[in-house]
Amino acid sequence: MSEKKRLLTGLQSSGALHIGNYFGALKPFLNTYEEYESFLMIADYHALTSLKNPEELRQNIYNVVRDYLAVGVDPSKAVIFQQSRVQEHTELAWIFDCLVTVPFLELGHAYKDKVAKGLEANAGLFTYPMLMAADILLYDTDVVPVGEDQRQHIEYAREAAKKFNNAFGQTFKEPEEKIQKEIAVVPGIDGKKMSKSYGNTIPLFGTKEEVSKAVMSIVTDSSGERPENVYAIHALFRSESELGPIYETNAGKYKVLKEMLIEDIEAVIAPMREKRNSITDEDVKKVIEEGSAQAKTIASAKMSDVRKKVGVSL
Ligand code: ADP
Ligand code: TRP
Repeated sequence: MSEKKRLLTGLQSSGALHIGNYFGALKPFLNTYEEYESFLMIADYHALTSLKNPEELRQNIYNVVRDYLAVGVDPSKAVIFQQSRVQEHTELAWIFDCLVTVPFLELGHAYKDKVAKGLEANAGLFTYPMLMAADILLYDTDVVPVGEDQRQHIEYAREAAKKFNNAFGQTFKEPEEKIQKEIAVVPGIDGKKMSKSYGNTIPLFGTKEEVSKAVMSIVTDSSGERPENVYAIHALFRSESELGPIYETNAGKYKVLKEMLIEDIEAVIAPMREKRNSITDEDVKKVIEEGSAQAKTIASAKMSDVRKKVGVSL
């Protein structure tokens, strides 16, 4: 057994990544995942709660793995696996469903938000937190890196662990969330938080033309002072001590500064883009198959204990 603590996180593809995702989520992950025994799970059955298009789902699975490999996650240092290939997840989720109450699940944010919008939630969305609890608890996970929006789901996982342990004896470890606090919000080309829902992004794997187009449309005020929106993004790519003199020398020359920013972005993302383009579906499949086999070994050992404890093993 490894001395390292175990880290697990779930990935749902949410379309093309932007540099806000890179600096806010992928890079912090890259900086720490090797300190842990790390598991990266593609949450494809979670995606099915909202996506009913098989080709899109399949492409999303390939794409999310390709993104992680392209930014530098080493599949020999993290178990990259597909949730649906390890059937123990849905099996354990059922057991948790039988332990938690309807009012408890009714407090779930994902479900509540849907209902608040007057939409009809499917039963999968309602029990979503218990599938997520199974994802985490099957692996005796210590830490779960997630965004703030997922905090409640980790609380639900702890609750599921407690309920099971109380009913059937100590079995599951209670996990901790790891929420990046100190990461600054990356501004978009309009100065607001960069987000795909605001259409203000600089794409992470875009072509040079796409990146240039986005940078050239960064909103600048005409006061002649430092163009803050350009500078804030530039500071992600070059130290402030280097940027100071550059912005002084080129005060008011927005086009020149933007062209420099494009070159600095290119220097960082061109190698990642090239790597991403070189990763084939076959490469991704191989990574997923190997990772899923490793995950399966752990999950099936845990589930045979669980089946004995609940009384279905004869
Ligand atoms: P989006 O707002 O584009 O939909 P997501 O909500 O899918 O992005 O975020 C995925 C991850 O990227 C989260 O961990 C989130 O904290 C991070 N992230 C997204 N946008 C930014 C940003 N502008 N600055 C820093 N981190 C970000
Ligand atoms: N619900 C998470 C999200 O939407 C994805 C997820 C599924 C997950 N299973 C997980 C995250 C287990 C962490 C651990 O982002």
